[in-house]
Amino acid sequence: MSSRVRSVRVGLAGKDRSYPVRIGAGTLDDAGDAIAQATKATRAVIVSVPPVARRYAPRLERSLRAAGIRTHRIVVPDGDASKNLAQVSKLYDAMLEFGADRSTAVVALGGGVVGDLAGFVAASYLRGVPFVQVPTTVLAMVDSSVGGKTGVNVPQGKNLVGAFHQPRLVWADVDVLGTLPARQRAAGMVEAIKHGAILDRALFERFERDLERALDLDPTVLVSLLTRSVAIKAEVVSQDEREAGIRTLLNFGHTLAHAVEKLSGYQKVLHGEAVGMGMVYAARHSEALDLAPAGTAERIEGIVGRLGIETELPSFPRRAYLSALRVDKKRTEAHIRFVVLRRIGAADTVPLTPAEVYPPRPGSKKRRVRR
Ligand SMILES: NC(=O)c1ccc[n+]([C@@H]2O[C@H](COP(=O)([O-])OP(=O)(O)OC[C@H]3O[C@@H](n4cnc5c(N)ncnc54)[C@H](O)[C@@H]3O)[C@@H](O)[C@H]2O)c1
Ligand SMILES: [Zn+2]
Repeated sequence: MSSRVRSVRVGLAGKDRSYPVRIGAGTLDDAGDAIAQATKATRAVIVSVPPVARRYAPRLERSLRAAGIRTHRIVVPDGDASKNLAQVSKLYDAMLEFGADRSTAVVALGGGVVGDLAGFVAASYLRGVPFVQVPTTVLAMVDSSVGGKTGVNVPQGKNLVGAFHQPRLVWADVDVLGTLPARQRAAGMVEAIKHGAILDRALFERFERDLERALDLDPTVLVSLLTRSVAIKAEVVSQDEREAGIRTLLNFGHTLAHAVEKLSGYQKVLHGEAVGMGMVYAARHSEALDLAPAGTAERIEGIVGRLGIETELPSFPRRAYLSALRVDKKRTEAHIRFVVLRRIGAADTVPLTPAEVYPPRPGSKKRRVRR
């Protein structure tokens, strides 16, 4: 196997539940052996979307077959709209037809959409079959493929149905990011930087130094930055698999991001872009609450700006933000665990009401309507 592969272990309690995340450049063709070893599977169902399957499924399949694994490819339509129960049902049908059993691995080849959907199918088919992630977006490499959260959207909301199902292996080849649209690349980078902002100042500073080289896909820089970023997520997940404590810090920037996504109807703005705006907002709010030293927000803003992402929230009315922030519609003053920065590399949560998360802007008065 290539020596260019870096490895991070996600340590979890319980027998054999820990798994490696392997990150390298030009390693897709070596996936088969690693998957065979990690799963002991004799067959594999590869789940993907057209733009990814077209480019990368043949290489993955060749590599799996060379490792003695029979393969079957299932391609679902591209986009978040495919993360639904109808697709889950179609995947069950296709797997039953293929004769998938407990020694069949489900391999997600794609971004977070494919990972969440295929992961949920792997969690529930025959009450759980081995699962492998082959992430092909920055977001999937550093965020969604690590941590075991799987699931789908329902008409009532996003990610409302799902399960925890840890993969046996995550196999990331940064070379595939070469075909990922630049805007997607930048948006995914936000989550990678977020890990530095909340828990590792040195990583944040490496992003400040090397961001352009990372966006240009310099393999050495990318492998190194993404590996460290994954290590942080892995550490958090190891400590708090079910999000009872420290895992909440990963929601830095997400309170406002979710509001922005909701208000813009999940169109126009990518998740990572919304998180970028949310991180700038949260950092400014941390300073305004005297929790972080002056200058903290400026650095977050600087790096988000360099990604080509808007740093100001879209100008929806304040009441729209308040309504979007109210998770519990019956208790309008219910507290949100808002993630603040203490400084670059250290975060904390504070309980805030929606009105405290989004206070009236100083100097802003209700406009008088002239008759
Ligand atoms: N499970 C978790 O912990 C977790 C965490 C964060 C986000 N998510 C979920 O992840 C999803 C978003 O994931 P995403 O940002 O990866 O989006 P995505 O999976 O939709 O991928 C983005 C786009 O890039 C294309 N693409 C992917 N890889 C490519 C490549 N190498 N070359 C060319 N095109 C490529 C896809 O076809 C798609 O059009 C959301 O559904 C979100 O809810 C889950
Ligand atoms: Zn996110």
